[in-house]
Amino acid sequence: MCGIVGYIGHRDAYPIIIKGLQRLEYRGYDSAGVALYDGEHINLAKTKGKVEDLRQKSEKNISLKGNLGIGHTRWATHGIPNDVNSHPHYSNSGELVIIHNGIIENYESIKQELTKRGYYFESDTDTEVLVNLIEEIKKTEDVKLGHAVQIALNQVVGAYAIAVFDKNKPDEIVVAKLGSPLAIGIGENEFFIASDASPFIEYTNNAVYLEDEEMAIVRLGKEIKLRKIKNDAIAYPNILELKMNLEEIEKGGYDHFMLKEIYEQPRAILDTYRGRLLADQGIIRMAGIDQHLEKFLNANRIIIVACGTSWHAGLVAEYIFEDLARVPVEVEYASEFRYRNPVITDKDVLIAISQSGETADTLAAIKLAKEKGAFVFGVCNVVGSSIARETHAGAYTHAGPEIGVASTKAFTTQITVLTLVALKLAKEKGAISESKFHEFLIELEGIPAKVERALLTNPLVEIISEVYKDSTNCLYLGRGYNFPVALEGALKLKEISYIHAEGYPAAEMKHGPIALIDEQMPVFVIATKMGHYEKVVSNIQEIKSRKGKIIAIVNEGDEQVAELADHVIEIPETIESLTPLLTTIPLQLLSYHIAVMRNCNVDQPRNLAKSVTVE
Ligand code: F6R
Repeated sequence: MCGIVGYIGHRDAYPIIIKGLQRLEYRGYDSAGVALYDGEHINLAKTKGKVEDLRQKSEKNISLKGNLGIGHTRWATHGIPNDVNSHPHYSNSGELVIIHNGIIENYESIKQELTKRGYYFESDTDTEVLVNLIEEIKKTEDVKLGHAVQIALNQVVGAYAIAVFDKNKPDEIVVAKLGSPLAIGIGENEFFIASDASPFIEYTNNAVYLEDEEMAIVRLGKEIKLRKIKNDAIAYPNILELKMNLEEIEKGGYDHFMLKEIYEQPRAILDTYRGRLLADQGIIRMAGIDQHLEKFLNANRIIIVACGTSWHAGLVAEYIFEDLARVPVEVEYASEFRYRNPVITDKDVLIAISQSGETADTLAAIKLAKEKGAFVFGVCNVVGSSIARETHAGAYTHAGPEIGVASTKAFTTQITVLTLVALKLAKEKGAISESKFHEFLIELEGIPAKVERALLTNPLVEIISEVYKDSTNCLYLGRGYNFPVALEGALKLKEISYIHAEGYPAAEMKHGPIALIDEQMPVFVIATKMGHYEKVVSNIQEIKSRKGKIIAIVNEGDEQVAELADHVIEIPETIESLTPLLTTIPLQLLSYHIAVMRNCNVDQPRNLAKSVTVE
């Protein structure tokens, strides 16, 4: 939620900031702004709308000169999206300027106090309160900017990643982090600040990720020093070498990131199991499990926490873990888990799943589980993210950057990692026979090729999308392993095309949703051969007799469902536990095409943000 960018060095700051904001736009895109210091003045432009609107406005209205600047793309929390509420925000004197990602929860009381002291506020934001608090402290306590920021942050409650500079001290930017991500790219006498590394990847591979409650004064000609906000202790920066490349964060000839990411899935799945799945040796190697095997083997149960699509991957994992490794699993929405006083013991293993590795609720659930003694294992995509750092151990999905707001390759790679974990535990526990284990390894190895084949359904899916693009409601049904896929299919459709959609276990339909079925209602049914096929066929009959439109995802060569359905989409066969990796593909394509046909903004659907760092 919200993307921040900053630059200080020898280059023009403006192009770096604008390009950086475009790359971070997935994080929030209801307004944007930039502030540049030209050697004398701060020149600031901000606007409701996209970064492109900001580009046009700033190039028309302000001087773009300067080697120091900050920029922001916003996902509104306090105050509606409009020009005034957009960041950056000035302090009353006009000397300080700030960008902020997060929420200051106690901003109201601070605002009242500052108002009594003569401060005025133009916006409704918590951020404008923070910058004025910093100004007030700087003046009354006669301290430097870094110190004033530190004192201010000790007074606020909430979450933040901030960057602030003072026009009287234009050789430094002060940054701080609690709960929202902040990376500093380190170049040759230049520094980049950003919510993730994508804005500076073409300039430097060296980056420091701030930990919670850390701040830094990024000063030209000086090495970075990190300081604990609470107690002043100095921390030594852990400079990481980034592996990301520019190609990965560009569209590569596709119209949208989402489509590119759907098509990247064969590669992403392969990258995720590469070096872990060693079929010829009959082993799965995962350092995060190998080093903590006892924790897993002695666990009474596994609790999975996640949100949204990652939660759906967790549901698939529940089936796999229970089926293969015979270990009880509970899957929880992180947002519910964290507030419901759950019973957690040191015999529990908690698996947290998160593409971004920054989701506030998932992070809070992890902290809670750790406090209660559970062992916490993370499944994240973003290397070095907060969740990756907060967990005891973990396994990255190697999906590469996912920029489309609707999650696609993150889902299939999460399932891939979790399948590897489940298989490994099954083997270690002796819960699976050698031959079945081997069969799994071979089949999983062949999944990328089958995903390629599932992607060949694209032209047909596009035709079907044309038929149903004007629907107002849709049902998605699946059973067993494909029930979470039905939920995921419905989520994809609603989030990018704004069509109301519900996912259900197929057999639950007759307990309520069947009342909705008439000739206007498209019902997408996953009816693959493995697992409950005959039962799903009966469910399809029930829909047909109520005149619902049936679009079925079946295995290649299926004839029975083809007789009943209005449309069938054929995908390759695989073993039951791996079917979600294939059945999800046409559903992703379907929501993509419908959204394009409805002229929706596929990569940046309204009201959403890729990284939900507020609860
Ligand atoms: C849906 C989507 C969201 C995320 C959810 C969790 O397409 O992207 O539902 O899955 O916000 O995000 P992460 O996985 O980053 O924790």
